[in-house]
Amino acid sequence: MSPDATSTRPAIGASLPRVDGPLKVSGRAGYSSDHHFPGLLYAVPVGATIARGEVAAIDDSAAAAMPGVSKVYTRANIGTFYKPGKSGTIDESRPPFEDDTVHYYGQYVALVVADTFEHATAAARAVKVDYRNVSAPDVRMALDPEENQTTDSERGHVDAALASAPVTVDQTYTTPPETHNPIELHASVAVWDGKAFTLYETTQSIMNHRAVMAQMLGVPKENVRIVTEFLGSGFGGKLWPWPHALLAAAAARDLGKPVKLVVTREMMFHNVGHRTNTQQRVRLGANHDGKLVALRQDFIYRTSRIDDSKEDCGEVTAFLYSTPNLKVTSGRARRDIAPNTAMRGPGAVPGLFAIESAMDELALALKIDPVELRLRNEPAIDESLGIPFSSRHMKECLTRGADRFGWARRNPAIGAMRQGGVVLGWGVAACAWMAQRLDAEVSLLLNADGSVRVASGTQDIGTGTYTMLAQMVAYDLGVPIERIQVVIGDSALPPGPLSGGSMVTGSLVPAVAQAAADAVQHLLDTAAGQGPFAGAKAEQLSFTEGRVHLRSGTPADGVPFADILKQARLAHVEGKGKSRNTFGDKEAKKFSMHSYGAHFVEVTWEPAIARLRVSRVVTAIDAGRILNPLTGRNQIEGAIAMGVGMALFEDTHYEPLHGKAINSNLADYIMTTHADMPDVDVLFLDYPDTKLNALGARGIGEIGLAGVAPAIANAVHHATGVRVRDLPVKIEDLL
Ligand code: MOS
Repeated sequence: MSPDATSTRPAIGASLPRVDGPLKVSGRAGYSSDHHFPGLLYAVPVGATIARGEVAAIDDSAAAAMPGVSKVYTRANIGTFYKPGKSGTIDESRPPFEDDTVHYYGQYVALVVADTFEHATAAARAVKVDYRNVSAPDVRMALDPEENQTTDSERGHVDAALASAPVTVDQTYTTPPETHNPIELHASVAVWDGKAFTLYETTQSIMNHRAVMAQMLGVPKENVRIVTEFLGSGFGGKLWPWPHALLAAAAARDLGKPVKLVVTREMMFHNVGHRTNTQQRVRLGANHDGKLVALRQDFIYRTSRIDDSKEDCGEVTAFLYSTPNLKVTSGRARRDIAPNTAMRGPGAVPGLFAIESAMDELALALKIDPVELRLRNEPAIDESLGIPFSSRHMKECLTRGADRFGWARRNPAIGAMRQGGVVLGWGVAACAWMAQRLDAEVSLLLNADGSVRVASGTQDIGTGTYTMLAQMVAYDLGVPIERIQVVIGDSALPPGPLSGGSMVTGSLVPAVAQAAADAVQHLLDTAAGQGPFAGAKAEQLSFTEGRVHLRSGTPADGVPFADILKQARLAHVEGKGKSRNTFGDKEAKKFSMHSYGAHFVEVTWEPAIARLRVSRVVTAIDAGRILNPLTGRNQIEGAIAMGVGMALFEDTHYEPLHGKAINSNLADYIMTTHADMPDVDVLFLDYPDTKLNALGARGIGEIGLAGVAPAIANAVHHATGVRVRDLPVKIEDLL
């Protein structure tokens, strides 16, 4: 049997290792800052050392005279940056060096370009900046409601229902600012050829990046090409362009030389966004039988003075549980801190910390098991929109997760469970995250050498997009994975989706299927009437697992597509696929589409030495069909690591005098390490959600993080009796 006839249908649902794995582990995968060109120059920005005031004067004479320095840029000589307008999304919309006003510590005020990174760094330190009208910044984390608190969702009469509810919870929860710390630093390598830019960028959205850069640099879109072949992750921090990319491009154009700008780890705490802090008051009202009668969430999130990225803590609140009365309101509080941005599971992740902590408090007040309380409040439909769910198996997440964890053995009394010398705490939390599609275009070539090339202007944030695309093509065409070449990470390709909101995979499924069908149609048109198919029309031909054959015959009697193309002297036939987003789609809007999950957490608490650890996590995830359990489990494991960090470690501290993030390095900004990792058991329910796409695959990049922190905090309460409502949980909270 020829290899073409090997069935490759298990390409979907098989635990295939990453197709780009060998490139990554051998160091051949090229990241943005790996790009080198003859004559490359290095740019290092100078950041403001105040958080509120104005630049009075910049003395760059010493810096400009230092070895290797090409040029020092300030507002006086950088040239024009245009405003972003409606070109795309950007969370820091003020063009760099726009005026003399300083809005946050670290804001770029000058840029040094030199022949080496060391020369540029040394000269950047020699740039002398004087300030005027400096005032003490307001970087308080406590948030007061602004006057413009707005209603985001409402049904029934929540305040009346709360007033008459037999059992209530009324508590306020806070989450701290978290800084994205992907291993790969943000970087830009800008090349200008006299007419057009090629920009090697750390971006989760090459298409948006191109649109915004073209607009702000004042060149046509076709004169900007963005290349992002690999990303060392981003977690949302690389979704939208940041000022350094504009500075690198402007310097490259002015000097006529390629310019590289790598944002340092310290700068990443000020200049490329962060998840902002939130404060949420949650009020729950229930009957004695555990039925919720009222849910009210009033949240405030902090933003910068000049931009407003909403941290939508109510993202999943309105459809999570059944309750006739509900209200969600939001407001923002402005501070002298840099613009915030999306971080993995934006809104829902801090939002669920409050909601799922409050549900645990309600379960205690009612003396009802917290799993049982959630089961009793499972909605039949999305009560906020009055429409059915496309596919929701939250109950099964809770019950199967509980079984796997051994929840039935839980003694609800505080501190009552012990193992050896340690106290065990068991906690649970539920979670949800949106499932949507973005616009996607795909080109697919069947090549005369028997290979298949699939291309789309998307990028792989590190989650496995290369592998997912290869699997989709293998599934649609029945061609072995090894013959499929995936080309992404270049804005010159047909526009593909951004890597955010867990939407890439689901968005690409329909476009790939259409491109594959289109390519096959062209192939059959080519084969019809030729060679062994003389006398046959295209409609009488079929394509099975790489071979063209008569519909009336069998694949084994067919001809490999490479032979058809060679005979026709065609290098390839191309198929094109295009699919639309769900956001404005009437059909898609008939269903409430989300992923769901339940986390079961065990913590160990050793009071004598004040040691708290997360020892065990069982997570049950309902995210549609899982295309690859291996890469899928990776996503959930990584998310659990991030959830442990959110619950126990991560917190960005802004000191009040200068507004600087003082723990702006990997020694002081504590994140989960391998030694902190619990034993993680991931259970995928694997119910295809065919309302979203034909394969029934939803995204899995973010759902695994939602709900982890409250499950840990709930377990901490079970072990210690201390209810921590302000993350992260600190040892001193427990003493
Ligand atoms: Mo994610 S915050 O949508 O990159």
